[in-house]
Amino acid sequence: MSIIVTPETPEIDPAEYRKIFGSLPTGVTAITGMTAEGKPMGLVVGTFMSLSLDPPLVTFCVDKGSSTWPLLRSLGRFTANILSTEQLPICRALSRKGEDKFADIDYTIGEHGTPHITEATAVIDCEVLSEVVAGDHYMIVGGVDSMVSSDADALLFRGGKFGDFNLWPAPANPEKKG
Ligand SMILES: Cc1cc2nc3c(=O)[nH]c(=O)nc-3n(C[C@H](O)[C@H](O)[C@H](O)COP(=O)(O)O)c2cc1C
Repeated sequence: MSIIVTPETPEIDPAEYRKIFGSLPTGVTAITGMTAEGKPMGLVVGTFMSLSLDPPLVTFCVDKGSSTWPLLRSLGRFTANILSTEQLPICRALSRKGEDKFADIDYTIGEHGTPHITEATAVIDCEVLSEVVAGDHYMIVGGVDSMVSSDADALLFRGGKFGDFNLWPAPANPEKKG
């Protein structure tokens, strides 16, 4: 695991920092895996994103206070389940702390032994390739092994609220430039 070292900490107001980044919409992704005891576990992240197409890499960030990530880390694998607009209850279940988060969640076990949440927008099986300690978070880089998608709309999160993506109506007379 490598560590990112900053020479000095600039004076940034935490409330302003949270406000700015809270205004940026994110997807809602459940990172799932199996504990060493063979128990399904997961947590919700808004930081999941693509990193590279060739080779296919993804990344997400986990707070150092996460109780689930240390349990999943040792497996060396995870599944990123992009949650749909129908799956807010699953988001709520996996974004709380505690045991048995999967009690009311339908899932199957994928070919790599990790939980695939039923009817997610997409299910992406990954291998952990790298983990960087970055301030109060870990930044994980995963290599994509396989993926399955559906037509379900992805759930979005912004400013502490959930929603979906609304397309702007196409302009009747789009202005041409150049
Ligand atoms: C929409 C949303 C996005 C979140 N994004 C992240 C994230 O990117 N990284 C993170 O560590 N926690 C994130 N969280 C918080 C975790 O899901 C939450 O702290 C959870 O309780 C962690 O569980 P654990 O302690 O079992 O790992 C997010 C929560 C929500 C609802």
